[in-house]
Amino acid sequence: MCGIVGYIGQRPAADILLHGLESLSYRGYDSAGIAVREENGTVAVRKSSGKLERLKQLLKVQPVSGCEGIGHTRWATHGEPSDVNAHPHTDESGRIAVVHNGIIENYDLLRSRLEAAGAVLKGQTDTEVIACLLGRMYGGSMLDTLLELQKLLQGRYAIAVMCGQEPGRLFCVKSGSPLVAAHREGESFLASDIPALLFHSRDVLILKDRETAVLTNEGVQVYDENGRLCPRETFHVAWSQESAEKNGYAHYMLKEIHEQPIALEKTFERGNDLLRPEWLPVDRETARNLKKVTIAACGTAYHAGVLAKYALETLARLPVEVETAGEYRYRQPVAQKNELFIAVSQSGETADTLAALEEARKNGVRSIAICNTVGSSIARAAGEANTLYTCAGPEIAVASTKAYLTQAELFVMISAALGMLRGTLPVQRALEIRNALNELPKKARQTLLLQEQIRQLCERFSHCEHVFFTGRGMDYALAMEGALKLKEVSYLFSEAYAAGELKHGPIALLQSGRLVVAGITQPHVMEKMLANLQEIRARKAQVLAICPEKMADRVKPHTDEMLVIPDTDDCLAPLLAAVPMQLFAYFMARIRGCDVDQPRNLAKSVTVE
Ligand code: M6R
Repeated sequence: MCGIVGYIGQRPAADILLHGLESLSYRGYDSAGIAVREENGTVAVRKSSGKLERLKQLLKVQPVSGCEGIGHTRWATHGEPSDVNAHPHTDESGRIAVVHNGIIENYDLLRSRLEAAGAVLKGQTDTEVIACLLGRMYGGSMLDTLLELQKLLQGRYAIAVMCGQEPGRLFCVKSGSPLVAAHREGESFLASDIPALLFHSRDVLILKDRETAVLTNEGVQVYDENGRLCPRETFHVAWSQESAEKNGYAHYMLKEIHEQPIALEKTFERGNDLLRPEWLPVDRETARNLKKVTIAACGTAYHAGVLAKYALETLARLPVEVETAGEYRYRQPVAQKNELFIAVSQSGETADTLAALEEARKNGVRSIAICNTVGSSIARAAGEANTLYTCAGPEIAVASTKAYLTQAELFVMISAALGMLRGTLPVQRALEIRNALNELPKKARQTLLLQEQIRQLCERFSHCEHVFFTGRGMDYALAMEGALKLKEVSYLFSEAYAAGELKHGPIALLQSGRLVVAGITQPHVMEKMLANLQEIRARKAQVLAICPEKMADRVKPHTDEMLVIPDTDDCLAPLLAAVPMQLFAYFMARIRGCDVDQPRNLAKSVTVE
């Protein structure tokens, strides 16, 4: 989704803004632009549709100079991707430049009012409306104008403003969408996302909703919605700049797949001992009284929730409802006494997941979050004490990999810990799971050794235009994630079906030239799966089975191709089996010449609904 950067200091702003935009480009965008305050006070805007390279070419032909500026990568919402709709937008005088993330929901009304008052707007964006409003409201203080503007805006937004009449100052305001700032030795920086600041500083200031900040080369001052100065502490980011770079890998996605062993290790070692479940944000009494768990999330995080349903039901004997957050938030869910709501998000900024969490809290449901990003909106909405962190580190590729695995791992840990608190999990079984979790990073490393075999299989199956994923129980959750991974990076048609459902319709699609990827990691349903494989192969579709060593001999006669993962505890086997599926998606995408890290139409962090 859109990205914002800002800089004020002594160095040429354009280079720093472009560098910041590059580090945000993983979020997905379709146009980009910068505005720089030049020596003579004019606000120079350069913007273009397409990738940053086009903007760079434009800047070669029409350079800008100045040490203050704002920049933006846009992912179109209001209005098509075009030069005119790209940010920054200026007011009618051209002296105020604005970049904006989010959606202004009362944009139509504001636009009509402006047009009725004689304003002529050039594009279709809600951001231009903000710029126009600011220009008309400005009375000499941009800080005061932004405080007034907030009263008019509805929706979620993060806005950065540069005003020609106020040199030496950049302004920003936010509600719902993230903004972070940093200061070091005569320079201040602004961004919508932490990775864009890491190159300059790891001590960042996270703006809260309805706060306005003024950046100068002396520091960052934050004001509340009434204009009162709020002294704010900075937050030290544990992620390093290197962790947000490719480090020799061809793509972020491949790098992040390979970072999974370490991410699993860090998440397990965070001090969350299954046998001493005090780290859970619910106490023994609450755990014992729980009647239901509801999980809401989007995309891959939702699939981690589907997997969690099986783990929570088996280990903690709790009924679980899993729902995509965009559905949960609008269906007037019936809150139950003794219900626990869990929001799951890598970014912590997904608009639907945040809204679902807010809805649950509004209905009085005890709510916690699983999140990968410290200080994110979802972590803050749940409250730090109610947030459990995955330790995946920055995930840059649009396709989520290491965040998924650590979410699934954390869910198994939560399920076992809740099982201990509720007395549904024998200590001996908890010990087995703890030992298996301890071994999991090593097993994930071994699983990564399948990479070359998977690459060759992808060469072989590259002609397949339709790929089905199937499994039972936890492997059905795995199949859903495998299908999502493949479709988002390779654009192949891929769909997941519970193996027991194949006969109820989808089998009609099976024929020669179609591939079915089957996860077979759960011994209690293995024979059922083998019967399903026979049905699939009888329709001339090909089968690629993924199974642990201990099941390999039994599975082999029933499959065309097989990927064998190391043995582990049954409740963790689908996590290991996800790794070959991720690599399968990755190589299919490469063979098909797709943009692996920034697939078409997708954004990393979906901050609009
Ligand atoms: O940051 P979140 O975990 O809340 O993101 C949720 C989804 O947008 C995300 O998982 C998306 O589906 C990924 N592109 C999947 O690879």
